[in-house]
Amino acid sequence: MYKMETKVAIVTGGNRGIGFEIVKGLCAKFDGAVYLTARNEERGRQAVKKLEELGLNVLFHVLDVTSEASVQEFATYVSTHHAGIDVLVNNAGVLDFDKSVSSYEDAKKLMDTNFFSLLTISRILYPYLKNNARIINISSDWGLLSNIRKQVWLDTLVKDDLTVEEILQFVNDFLQAAKNGKSSFVAFAGHYGDYKVSKVAMSALTFVQQRLFDEQGKDIAINCVHPGFVKTDMTKGMGDFTPERGARAPLHLALEAPHTQKGTFVWHDCHQVNWDD
Ligand SMILES: NC(=O)c1ccc[n+]([C@@H]2O[C@H](COP(=O)([O-])OP(=O)(O)OC[C@H]3O[C@@H](n4cnc5c(N)ncnc54)[C@H](OP(=O)(O)O)[C@@H]3O)[C@@H](O)[C@H]2O)c1
Repeated sequence: MYKMETKVAIVTGGNRGIGFEIVKGLCAKFDGAVYLTARNEERGRQAVKKLEELGLNVLFHVLDVTSEASVQEFATYVSTHHAGIDVLVNNAGVLDFDKSVSSYEDAKKLMDTNFFSLLTISRILYPYLKNNARIINISSDWGLLSNIRKQVWLDTLVKDDLTVEEILQFVNDFLQAAKNGKSSFVAFAGHYGDYKVSKVAMSALTFVQQRLFDEQGKDIAINCVHPGFVKTDMTKGMGDFTPERGARAPLHLALEAPHTQKGTFVWHDCHQVNWDD
């Protein structure tokens, strides 16, 4: 149906919430094939049906970001059917809004989805990015550095030569704190500390990966974005914005931002902000 040279955009966790609206916006404006991906085939296909009913063209593929086998299967599929990836939106994420302090087991599960998955995707899917690709990481205002309370990490995460390994140590240090109990969990990043650490780690990873792409001479732009406080299932319907409004800045980065905009943290109104203020 699509030619090898057709451009490709991919959204993780595209079956509902902000991800669904990002897919919808891409279907309307992206000059190429748009993949709505979802971990659950039935939920994914229902979302596709909704878009088709609106007259939009969309493709579907199962993708569970926490499963290496699923990411591998998707990468094989994409590389067989397309010349590469032009836009990748890392949107899939979890948060239990009812639990501001989680057990170690729950914090680890959250980290698997919100952070460790990015490392799997980087390893398996990033090799298929085209040279002028765009990656958009859906972070949060809870992904600003000021959410962290441990001085050693405030000092480490701003280093110009920060490494992926150090970000991993940061996340693992938090998980150790979660293992040590409630007060240690809260001392690290306050309430919802697991979510905050996952999004701070995502943001830091964005900047490190931009530096690495630059060093490798690849013209790839990777940016992260706070979509606003958005009324979705994640927030139990609370928030300031509709999911469509939440998709605005991610879509701006995917479609309109100058390609020279690289390694930035973008606010929901599309302005760049300092991540480490
Ligand atoms: N809503 C806000 O106010 C807000 C603010 C800042 C940042 N964000 C971020 O925005 C992103 C989207 O959030 P949302 O509010 O739209 O949440 P949502 O409505 O709960 O949607 C989350 C999406 O992620 C998917 N997902 C979860 N685990 C997955 C996995 N292992 N593999 C693939 N997909 C998975 C979900 O799929 P299922 O349907 O299968 O569960 C769902 O499609 C998240 O990264 C979130 O952290 C949201």
